[in-house]
Amino acid sequence: MPLVVRTREKYSRRVLNSSKPPVFEPVCGSCHSGPNASAGLDLNSTETYDQLVGEDSVGNPDVELVKKHDSDGSYLIQKLEGAAGIAGSQMPLGKAPLPQTVINNIRLWIDEGAPE
Ligand code: HEC
Repeated sequence: MPLVVRTREKYSRRVLNSSKPPVFEPVCGSCHSGPNASAGLDLNSTETYDQLVGEDSVGNPDVELVKKHDSDGSYLIQKLEGAAGIAGSQMPLGKAPLPQTVINNIRLWIDEGAPE
């Protein structure tokens, strides 16, 4: 198995709540922005962190979008990886999946407790 360098440097409340969060804004922003954001999830908001961390998903309300210390149990990761049991489609919808290294960085941040 290749060694994957993992870093959570891009994820924090400050970064996620900026108007152009890296990763999410360029890839997800066309659908997940503004008052009509898909699934009510605005990934370009000053409240993105709070919309993700500890919040129940719409598609599978038993599963939180970001469950602290549990990346496997976080719906955001399940959607990005197209995990079995998700409602709807793998994200980003209609685009190539995010590189696993990028997903692993998000996983690491979640597994560390989604620190601010
Ligand atoms: C072309 C439009 C489009 C793009 C681009 C897109 N999404 Fe989505 N997203 C949707 C739609 C529509 C839904 C609701 C249907 C579904 O879950 O498949 C959704 C649902 C979701 C959900 C589930 C929310 C919930 O509460 O159930 C997550 C998480 C998500 N998207 C994350 C992302 C991320 C992260 C990206 C970028 C990497 C992204 N999406 C890119 C359209 C999009």
